Amino acid sequence: MTENLTEVIAHRGSKGTRPENTIAAFQEAIDARSDGIETDVHLSADRQLIIMHDEKVNRTTNGTGLIVQKTLAELKELDAGYKFSPAYKGERVPTLDELLDLLITEKFHGVLNIELKTNKISYVGIEELVTETIQKRDLPFKVIYSSFNGESIRKMHELNPDSEYAKLFKTAYKNAMLMKKSKLIQGIHPSVKWVKRHKYLLPNVLIRPWTVNAESDMVFCFNRRMTGIITDYPRKAMTIRKEI
Ligand code: G3P
Ligand code: CA
Repeated sequence: MTENLTEVIAHRGSKGTRPENTIAAFQEAIDARSDGIETDVHLSADRQLIIMHDEKVNRTTNGTGLIVQKTLAELKELDAGYKFSPAYKGERVPTLDELLDLLITEKFHGVLNIELKTNKISYVGIEELVTETIQKRDLPFKVIYSSFNGESIRKMHELNPDSEYAKLFKTAYKNAMLMKKSKLIQGIHPSVKWVKRHKYLLPNVLIRPWTVNAESDMVFCFNRRMTGIITDYPRKAMTIRKEI
């Protein structure tokens, strides 16, 4: 991890250049030497932790329906690459364990940002399962947790009080500020639009806006020494950070 530089965190792996939240996307984030990787977790019908952004498989795969109504075996039949580009035909939907395996194999030493996708569907027990999955590994990298759902963060905090947490928001930030004051979170992950409109920030808050894709937004965040940026284009961001 680079000291005092704004971290470049690869959004859904490398969403801009690879099929999001697939092993191909995470491999690209690693190869681009990103400081961090952001990903999203859901729960399958047979209670496996599934890496995908949407609650439904429709947008990114050749299937239809909700993740929570499918088993891991059913999810593994889907193609998660072809819709992005035929060049990625055959990419599968990964589990959180498979992502951890890749990061260990690749000797990743950055930050893994796990977003609990509990704002639209309530996945009972997902916080415990994520905790077990992370705790049973001796991970050589840091894991931080984020969610739009404050309740999920509260549950995670109870299970892992020493971990780092960030509240996600687009514009409604009051809840995040209250959570920071109650020491439930160390960071905020706001939309980049919000960051550009709000010059004032709480002191001692880690701030990693999303989704920072435009070069001007990257430069804005780098120049203000924000904690990190969450970007679909980690390779481009790493180059721009070197040049300024
Ligand atoms: O973690 C930042 C960002 O991923 C939050 O929004 O919808 O892309 O998961 P979304
Ligand atoms: Ca996310």
